[in-house]
Amino acid sequence: MLAIGCDHGGYALKQEILAHLKKRGVEVKDFGTYNEDSCDYPVYARAVAQAVTSGECERGILICGTGIGISIAANKVPGVRCALCGDCFSAQATREHNDANVLALGARVTGPGLALKIVDTFLDTPFSNDERHIRRISLIE
Ligand code: RB5
Repeated sequence: MLAIGCDHGGYALKQEILAHLKKRGVEVKDFGTYNEDSCDYPVYARAVAQAVTSGECERGILICGTGIGISIAANKVPGVRCALCGDCFSAQATREHNDANVLALGARVTGPGLALKIVDTFLDTPFSNDERHIRRISLIE
């Protein structure tokens, strides 16, 4: 199960990602927001982060205007490794090296075509399991 959440700035892109995930057959739990009314991104960051750390969802995706605020908020939750990605190289590297469990996207920065490719890369790339990366992640925790 994948958790997804956004603020008003990320709502339109979240809808595109949801349609894409449906085509892929990915099971998703949508934590909101559910319209473009102005709202507070930390609320959605926390909901998705807690869904991941509780084990309810394996990974999460968060979207706000820049991806910055929502990633900062998610990373306050212990056990969350949220990576803000604007390219596929970073999405692949953060899965392989950081075992990132939440992806953040900036809807006002990254176009929808690239965003969907980043989502696919994030979902399809396994953690490397290299000893050095395991050690570094444990040092973060
Ligand atoms: C909302 O206007 C905007 O501040 C938010 O979407 C995000 O970019 C914050 O980091």
